[in-house]
Amino acid sequence: MKCLVIHGSPRRGNTWDVLNLVKEEMKKNGDVEFIDIELRKQGIPSCVGCFNCIMKGENKCPHKDIISNITTKLEKADALIITSPVYSLQVTGLLKDFIDHMSYNFHRPRFFTKKALVITTTAGAGHTDVANYIKKVLHYWGFNYVNTLPIAYRGLELNNKNNERIHKAAKNFMNDLNSNKLHKPSIKSVAMFNIWRGMANEKNKFGSADYDYWNETELNKYPFSPKVEIGILKNGIGNFIYKMMKKHK
Ligand SMILES: Cc1cc2nc3c(=O)[nH]c(=O)nc-3n(C[C@H](O)[C@H](O)[C@H](O)COP(=O)(O)O)c2cc1C
Repeated sequence: MKCLVIHGSPRRGNTWDVLNLVKEEMKKNGDVEFIDIELRKQGIPSCVGCFNCIMKGENKCPHKDIISNITTKLEKADALIITSPVYSLQVTGLLKDFIDHMSYNFHRPRFFTKKALVITTTAGAGHTDVANYIKKVLHYWGFNYVNTLPIAYRGLELNNKNNERIHKAAKNFMNDLNSNKLHKPSIKSVAMFNIWRGMANEKNKFGSADYDYWNETELNKYPFSPKVEIGILKNGIGNFIYKMMKKHK
């Protein structure tokens, strides 16, 4: 099992320590290899807002070499751990710069078989909101399952309660990976999939990256990725939303 770790902290501090406890516990519960990417070493510039990734394709991003180095590793991994300390009630700038460069995945979701664990740390506040923000982003990118581990230090050391939560979350995540079972997506995920599917139905004069992606992958034929079982009801809801999108064009 390959697990990519994307580190959003500019230093090896609290978030690093929590992650190491998670890694130890995961190793105890399964056969897992970690591939670490510390964003602070990647030199990702701010997104310049050119829209190239969205309109023309991610390979037209001026920073494509830096980003594709990360996405290639993500595509090869079974799982992802993504970490960030809370900075001013948000993710770090380092992580936000990465997320912005991945924005095309909102239009062209793809990571349908991947599972993720989100780790956030704070001194006191914002850990849950920030973990939920990252979780939401990953769901939009197509992730099958995302668990969160928000930790508030509220002191210099991890307390017993936090230690217990860390071990439990790591064990549960590893057990879920070991199960090799994919989760059914939420109605919201199915709805979003079909909204983007509907929007990619026509070429756009500014670029046809979405249209090409949905056609070339043949995802435009389905109410969700055929790799994931969604059940009859969500199948119907997905196709209905797609039809409505087409009708209102
Ligand atoms: C620039 C900056 C902004 C921060 N903003 C918050 C915040 O909004 N809420 C909070 O509880 N802690 C905040 N903190 C504290 C960190 O989130 C907390 O110490 C975290 O565990 C640090 O993780 P690290 O050791 O991995 O860098 C901030 C720290 C820094 C450096």
